[in-house]
Amino acid sequence: MTEEFSINEIARLRDDTPGCSHVVHLNSAGASLMPQPVINAIQEHIKLEGNVGGYEAAALMEKQQSGFYDAAGRLLNTKAQNIAYTANATDAYTRALSSVLFKTGDIILTTDDDYVSNQINFLSMAKRFGTVTKRVKNAPGGGIDLDDLDKQLKELHPKLLSITHIPTNSGLVQPVEEIGAIVKKYDTLYLLDACQSAGQKPLDVEQLNCDFLSATARKFLRGPRGAGFLYVSDNALDLGLEPLFIDMRGADWVEKDKYLPRKDATRFEDWESACALLLGTKAAIEYSLNIGIDRIWARIKYLADYTRQKLQEIDELRLLDEGQELCSIITFTIPGFEAEAIKDKLASKKINVVTSYRIFAIIDYDKKGVQWAIRVSPHYFNLESEIDFFIEQLKLIIHKKR
Ligand SMILES: Cc1ncc(COP(=O)(O)O)c(C=O)c1O
Repeated sequence: MTEEFSINEIARLRDDTPGCSHVVHLNSAGASLMPQPVINAIQEHIKLEGNVGGYEAAALMEKQQSGFYDAAGRLLNTKAQNIAYTANATDAYTRALSSVLFKTGDIILTTDDDYVSNQINFLSMAKRFGTVTKRVKNAPGGGIDLDDLDKQLKELHPKLLSITHIPTNSGLVQPVEEIGAIVKKYDTLYLLDACQSAGQKPLDVEQLNCDFLSATARKFLRGPRGAGFLYVSDNALDLGLEPLFIDMRGADWVEKDKYLPRKDATRFEDWESACALLLGTKAAIEYSLNIGIDRIWARIKYLADYTRQKLQEIDELRLLDEGQELCSIITFTIPGFEAEAIKDKLASKKINVVTSYRIFAIIDYDKKGVQWAIRVSPHYFNLESEIDFFIEQLKLIIHKKR
């Protein structure tokens, strides 16, 4: 049993979060509210850079910066050497993708629910390298069919399996422990997009059996925008995988016609990066770890269930989330209404939600027969009373129009 959050603890966490006194923030799946220690870490480093110079500030903060790799390692149950700092989750993902030695006809196996930019990348790779994209069938209740995954891995020998743990556009959680156990039997490389799960639910790469895992700082980890990270397994490092555009951080140029890639995951980094954001990301990961990711996940699930239950009581509205396991991405549509107008009316009451459109998830939305959804994503710092206020305002919007 995980220890529940007390009222006092939630009050303290909200006090730590300046945004909580200004808005009802139900958009942690977009970008969450940063807590004060994260804001401080960023601001203090920028101030230091202003005072002593950028390179000089980095030298002064070397120890703290290396603490980022330890923190991310602890988050994912791996070593600091297996972590690379990146500009965002897509950057992490594409660096890993670019390291796979694809030949014409090689298969990338993915799902109907993989993230939009990953799907675009597969199409772009097909155009340039002649790779072929195949998709695992979905199970009747949503999420991938594990038997079909096994079958396709066995029959197609894909070069890469790409799974998005939690899609951006629905509350689905893919069964990644089971997926990891299946893919382990084959020599297919496995890239896991954990952008929405990092900070929302526990992640253990030893159990996940992935070769790469990509994540971002700003969502459920409550870090800054413009920062992310990549887990690179020992297997991927030992195979000599390296990003296509490796730079002087990832490798040493040792002779006119020769470079030597770094031994650890910094092989996947760029020389230039935002030190202040790296320190902010470190603070955000430590903040989450101090609270406890399993406790965070328990409260998030409670608040997501609470929100779904209240939404279900509104007849005009259609909830869209499907899957054996659901998370704190709650999506719904309201026939006869316009997404942007709903979002704007809620924003005028200081309630933050976002809109999601068919072009973000065409396979899923075509199956569901919808053009748009409103996405609501509470985090542990949200209160039931905030969700009640959101529901009350949503009802007013719907009933005023009728
Ligand atoms: C599932 C998923 N993967 C990847 C991304 C891309 O993350 P970033 O914007 O940090 O590149 C997102 C962003 O919303 C996402 O939801």
